[in-house]
Amino acid sequence: MHATISAERCQGHALCAAAVPDFFELSDDDGHSSVASPRIPENLREAVRMAAANCPERAITISE
Ligand code: F3S
Repeated sequence: MHATISAERCQGHALCAAAVPDFFELSDDDGHSSVASPRIPENLREAVRMAAANCPERAITISE
């Protein structure tokens, strides 16, 4: 399972990085986030799914 963040959609709400700091990282001072590696570790899958569902901009895409 993989996750990516759309740089075009992300508005820097930083909810994802706050919720799952072991996966999402802030990439600039405006709160925009990125993922260091798109592969989601097994133990973080549910948390990453929740973060994707809670992103106000729907900027996080999860794929198998
Ligand atoms: Fe961006 Fe959504 Fe996270 S807007 S910083 S991907 S919560």
